[in-house]
Amino acid sequence: MDSNNEKILKFPKDFLWGASTSAYQIEGGNVNDWSEWENSPKRIETLKKAGKNPADYICGQGCDSYNRYEEDFDIVVKLNNNAHRLGIEWSRIMPEEGTIDYNEIEHYRKVFKALKDRNLKIMLTLWHWTVPIWIKNKGLWENKETVEHFKKYVAIVVEELGEYVDFWIILNEPLLHIAHGYIDGKFPPNRKWDLFRSAKIYKNLSKAQSECYKIIHNKYPQTQIGATLLTGCYEPANKWNPIEVSICKIANYVRNDIFFRGLKGKFDFIGVDYYHHIRIVWYPPFKKNLNKKVSDFGWEIYPEGIYHILKNYSKFKKPIYVVENGVADAVDKYRKDFIIDHLKYVHKAISEGVDVRGYFHWSLLDNFEWADGFGMKFGLVEVDRQTFERKIRPSAFAYAEICKTNQVKIDSYGMEK
Ligand code: FCB
Repeated sequence: MDSNNEKILKFPKDFLWGASTSAYQIEGGNVNDWSEWENSPKRIETLKKAGKNPADYICGQGCDSYNRYEEDFDIVVKLNNNAHRLGIEWSRIMPEEGTIDYNEIEHYRKVFKALKDRNLKIMLTLWHWTVPIWIKNKGLWENKETVEHFKKYVAIVVEELGEYVDFWIILNEPLLHIAHGYIDGKFPPNRKWDLFRSAKIYKNLSKAQSECYKIIHNKYPQTQIGATLLTGCYEPANKWNPIEVSICKIANYVRNDIFFRGLKGKFDFIGVDYYHHIRIVWYPPFKKNLNKKVSDFGWEIYPEGIYHILKNYSKFKKPIYVVENGVADAVDKYRKDFIIDHLKYVHKAISEGVDVRGYFHWSLLDNFEWADGFGMKFGLVEVDRQTFERKIRPSAFAYAEICKTNQVKIDSYGMEK
């Protein structure tokens, strides 16, 4: 306790503080399976029928970060971050089968150097859902050949750019790609309840993780390679109800554990993406959140969930990094408290012995939120859709103070701010 009214939560020495982005969502100008889908007549027709403006659902120039990355990284420095998570686009590096675009490799070299010039640790995502069109035409991850092509892409990146990378994320949230692409049909290729393909993709993605793990470590034995999931914190509405408790146990196991268990140690750290929890009831539709506070996305803000996720993962005995955690909040009403309240629970997990080594807020910029288009604003920084002008939100300055001091100040009684 540091004063009568305040409690200071100190984070471990060398804790990483950063923000996360993904290549497709911010770069602009990419041509891949997503850009093809967004521009397809069927998608445009569906959006029009729903009364939506298709232009808001086409990534197009994104945040123009392909050209404005220096400006973005200057903001990262201003926010006192000591690390940054970003992605690169497979479709840029291998636009056609059998070709490597060395100009794009040089572009990414400049990007990485710009980060290193600013003394930032680099966490690199190699696949964040998008693929080159020629891979899509071969059947995406349904085709086991895709694993071989992906390995070639990863090998080139390791060879050409590996020297800059401190932390690798091979696959971003593989299960979400399956869930939205092949179960509920929200993402391309828009298949529904296709369990047969889902199983094949699961197998191929797991193989890609394991084999690329070896490729990266062959050249860089000491580097850190992670696996990530969009975690879900399932909790029973009534702790005394055995049906609800059992549903939660199964759901937590399937969503948070199985993938990591299947990798048989082919990851050096766990990347946690956490946004919200799911409160389970025993009757259909089996989910009933209290929704006292919800984001613009309608996701309940529930900071305690991150604590349960971190505690659960401590059993894998690997370092943990929170690599995504954020809130869709266009008017910046909740973001500051959201960050503080989640960090409070991250700190609680750390104080109980969980090896959490970093926190990356999602996201640095308002970006293209996949099938939900540009409407959902997750940025610490607002981006003007016309001019691409960046404007740092007030909550970002609160986060910057945390990053600078490596600590969070909270009210000793309310434990909230
Ligand atoms: C995660 C994605 C990320 C972003 C956030 C809101 O599941 O990895 O790209 O869309 O959700």
